[in-house]
Order: sequence, then structure tokens, then C-alpha cells
Amino acid sequence: MEIVATFAEARGRNGRIGLVPTMGFLHEGHVSLIEAARSECDVVIMTLFVNPLQFEERVDLDRYPRDLERDAAIAESAGVDVIVAPSVEEMYPVWPPATVVQVPGLADIMEGAHRPGHFDGVATVVAKLFAGAQANRAYFGRKDAQQLAVVRAMARDLSFPIEVRGMPILRESDGLALSSRNVFLEPDRRAAALSLNMGLMAAADAVEAGERDAKQVASLAWDRMDQTPGVEPEYAEVASQDDVVSQDSLNEPTFLAVAARVGDVRLIDNVHFDVIDGEVVADRGTRLQHQSILYEGGH
Ligand code: PAF
Repeated sequence: MEIVATFAEARGRNGRIGLVPTMGFLHEGHVSLIEAARSECDVVIMTLFVNPLQFEERVDLDRYPRDLERDAAIAESAGVDVIVAPSVEEMYPVWPPATVVQVPGLADIMEGAHRPGHFDGVATVVAKLFAGAQANRAYFGRKDAQQLAVVRAMARDLSFPIEVRGMPILRESDGLALSSRNVFLEPDRRAAALSLNMGLMAAADAVEAGERDAKQVASLAWDRMDQTPGVEPEYAEVASQDDVVSQDSLNEPTFLAVAARVGDVRLIDNVHFDVIDGEVVADRGTRLQHQSILYEGGH
């Protein structure tokens, strides 16, 4: 495996290219994206770039966990061929950049409403990564459901010849969705953070038992978070998977997304409701059988 600073150095590899964009501090969720790319492509490029354009709060950007050596070891054993790890100056020779990609509409609710400008930053950097890598496929987690929809719309509208693949959420064995931010959760806060998953699973149970009213379903998730000391819910909302429009019912492919602050850590999670042969089926993600490499500190 090679670590390079620019796509120019990464070019010249033959075959079907799979791109796994990350901000580093890898966990099994990223590993599952790398493995999917490995099984479907000849060359796997992983990018590692903590993108300042998608952070609204400077303090959040500064404290985002970073450990290149650790990431390189994990990436290599998962099957990455080349890591592209550019500096901020390489990605943004002019700061702030004169050109910003916006995907209005899809970015208005949920994360977009609570993190103004966040998806402009995501869409801009992902467009730059797509242009640089010239990959055939790119791999993203369903954990960031709205991001996935924004990236798909951006790739379609800007005519990037790339297939965007959305992969299932990975969870700790107790249900907590894997996130690089989990390393900041103290044990008591970590216990409180489980309320996000518990609320979503209660909602998924209700849907699979026949409930189709989006407000009812969302309130199950909201109430569970709201009743948990130390958890401040921000939203629990149902939207369509493709265009992230708020829904009243769950008869088409949708997802129920939640966000909450647990102490000073902001977490998001969701459950997707796919329609398979006319049945609404909850994609609850996959639980690891062991504790993840992030558990209690991540080292
Ligand atoms: O999901 C992430 O880690 C980031 O938002 C991404 C897609 C790498 C863009 O910076």
C-alpha cells in the first residue's frame, strides 16, 4: 500500500477503481466500505482528509480525532491499495474556495437545518474527490443517510460517471452506531447514547408491526431520547431516501433519522425503511459480535 498526497501521484493504476472517501480515524464501518470496494473493484483508493469546509464550528474541526499511522495500518489490512491524504492547501489552494457546490432542497431539513453550510462543504469536497480519483464506484455509509442522498444528487447533476454505493450501518454489539466521535463518550454518556438506537429500534418494531404514520413513528424515537437524562434530542424525522423530503407516511423508501447531543458530543443515527416486494422492511444495520476498535478510547 502507498500513501500519497495527490491524485496525480495515485494515477496510472489500471482496472476498475473503487473510491472510499473518509475523514480518517477509521473504524469497522470504514473497513466494511473498503471490503465492499475490494470485492467489486481492481484498485481501491481511500482518501483521508478532514475537510474544514464542512465544519461549522472551529472547535469541532480542531478536536476531530486524527491518527494517520493508525489509519494506514487499518487501511492496509482491509485491502486499500493507495491512500490519498492531501493537505488543506492542496485541496483548497485558495481559501475560502471561490466555487462551492450546493444541493439545495435535499440539504434543507435534518442535518442541513441544524448544521447550516455543512452539506455545501460535503458536496464541494466530494465533487473534488470524484474529479481527482476518476473512480468507477464510490462507497458511502447509510449512517450518513442525508449525505448519501446529497452525494448521489450531486454526482447525477454534475454528470460524474461514477456509481455511488450506500452500505449498511455498522453498530457496536449493544447497538450504538459506529462513529469516530464515539471515542469522546465517557462511560456514563456512552450508556445514555444508546437511547438513540433504542428509540430507532422501537420505531422499527412499530413499522414492522404495521404502523405507517411518520409522526407516530418519529415520536417513538424522540421520546426515548428525550426521556434519557443527559441526552438533548435535536430532531427525529422521517424523509424519503432519494430526495430527503419530509414524509407523513412510510409507504415508499424512507428513513427515520435522529440527532442528539450527549454531553458535548453530537451524534446522529437512522434506520432505513426499504420497500421490498411491496413490504416495508427496516434496515437496522449490522451489529458487531465484538467490541469495535473505537470502544472506550479507540486505541
Ligand atoms: O462521511 C465523511 O466522512 C465525510 O463527510 C466525507 C464524505 C469523507 C467528506 O468529507
